[in-house]
Amino acid sequence: MKNLISQLLATAVESLKNEGVLPADINPNIQVETARDKTHGDFASNLAMMLAKPAKMKPRDLADKIVAALPAHQAVSSVNIAGPGFINFFQDSGWLAAQLQAALDDDRLSARAAGDTQTVVVDYSAPNLAKEMHVGHLRSSIIGDAVAHVLEYLGHTVIRQNHVGDWGTQFGMLLAFMEENPVEAEAVSSPGDLENFYRQAKKRFDESAEFANRARERVVQLQAGDPECLALWNRFNQISLGHCQAVYDRLGVSLTPADVRGESAYNDQLAGIVSDLRAAGLITESEGAQCVFLDEFKNSEDKPLPVIVQKAGGGYLYATTDLAAMRYRYSQLHADRVLYFVDQRQALHFQQVFAVARKAGFVPADMQLEHMGFGTMNGADGRPFKTRDGGTIKLIDLLDEAEQRAHTLVAEKNPELPASELREIAAAVGIGAVKYADLSKHRSSDYSFNFDQMLSFEGNTAPYLMYAYTRVASVFRKLERPMSQLDDLAPLVLEAPNEVELGAHLAQFGNTLNYVAREGTPHVLCHYLYELAGRFSSFYEQCPILAADNQAQRDSRLRLAALTGRTLQQGLTLLGINTLERM
Ligand code: ARG
Repeated sequence: MKNLISQLLATAVESLKNEGVLPADINPNIQVETARDKTHGDFASNLAMMLAKPAKMKPRDLADKIVAALPAHQAVSSVNIAGPGFINFFQDSGWLAAQLQAALDDDRLSARAAGDTQTVVVDYSAPNLAKEMHVGHLRSSIIGDAVAHVLEYLGHTVIRQNHVGDWGTQFGMLLAFMEENPVEAEAVSSPGDLENFYRQAKKRFDESAEFANRARERVVQLQAGDPECLALWNRFNQISLGHCQAVYDRLGVSLTPADVRGESAYNDQLAGIVSDLRAAGLITESEGAQCVFLDEFKNSEDKPLPVIVQKAGGGYLYATTDLAAMRYRYSQLHADRVLYFVDQRQALHFQQVFAVARKAGFVPADMQLEHMGFGTMNGADGRPFKTRDGGTIKLIDLLDEAEQRAHTLVAEKNPELPASELREIAAAVGIGAVKYADLSKHRSSDYSFNFDQMLSFEGNTAPYLMYAYTRVASVFRKLERPMSQLDDLAPLVLEAPNEVELGAHLAQFGNTLNYVAREGTPHVLCHYLYELAGRFSSFYEQCPILAADNQAQRDSRLRLAALTGRTLQQGLTLLGINTLERM
């Protein structure tokens, strides 16, 4: 609706330019807000105040002209001018009801991509292998997955890419340590063993310069395709990847083994990347290393910052692989847009490699490359999230605890539930709570992990929204009618203010999803759903459904409830959260 009103206003501005009322060279950024006090209108714009000066007119007089030039539209029942020159719009409730009915009749709830659909590569999760997944991997996995779902739902073609770190120093350490401890190495069979083994290797690496050198040599050997190194690497890799997949399955993250395209996959292209950069005149040798210097990147002393693409010893780097990945995503995957859900601390890395890739012509100027950075996950005390003894918290342990706590809570609330159902609810609530707590904060800020808060049934939490859905479901259960079966009901009409408020919000679902797809910010969808649950709650109190005045009113309200239920469920599903019929 806001978009529509903006378009109407833009048309009015054009005709006033043609009439000479407005200067021909202005291009106002038209703002339309949802009005708080609905007695004066549902939406308002301050356009007349913004343009009064260039038009050399009083705001109210200009507002008169704008309103006179507005094209008529069925969605708008009336327009008036208030205060110093606000233009207020009343939404036509008949038109709104027709929109809602159209959403009910559509299996995608009328949500479609605004503009052309694209091929979007979503690069997310991407843990460094050899270690078990820890809380640091949670944000990328969860936020990236939600955005991938939203893009797909809107009709974009999404290609998930799990750019795992499977080729770097950590593998050199493992290989060098194996040579020293062949018996222990043979015994490594689980992710826990591997983590343990890795920890010892890391200790050796930090303590002995000689060992560290050997580890670096092994990386070069591995990258050169030494068969023995490769075989060992492959074994470690499989253990690690199997563990990651188990975590994704448990978390309900939609990544599969087919989405893994790790750093190693680009190995045979790295030499070519460096030679192409050289051919493009972009390479400078500095202390034996091959570097790209770009004018736009300087350090605090104004010295140019290099992007190192090959080390003095011959090894390639994280940046080299990312350049190869970009080229692949353009030439093989035909991406229009690539989104990187990676820690904010890598912001400079991405700015640099994006710039180098464009300069070198690895990707065309119109391919969108966006680093969707996120902040750190802290403990409830605001410090980096660690175990009591200062270690990193394993993701599996975190999820176990979430389910455990959810189990206790739900059992207290519903002591009569059978054990199997209780377990199912606890799993959905526990995992849902962990995911939602992360998704509901703006990704770029740091966030504090707090079990009590995320498991609360009040406020902007998963349990609250999951519960809101069960309330809608229970209305239909009482009637013994599936939420999807509405054909025999009287039509949807919006009369009571709470019906209109709920309806107006429901009509914003598609817009909200498009915003999330554009900005990569699932918290906007969380906020939308929270607001939806709140409006449903007020509607439910003010507008009895089962005890409505008459059949027609009951039917109309049932339709509104069904659309609310489906929107809540679909929204939560896009966030990767399962709804329950009862809890
Ligand atoms: N493995 C990297 C890390 O843990 C993240 C990779 C992100 N994706 C990329 N294309 N660089 O920091």
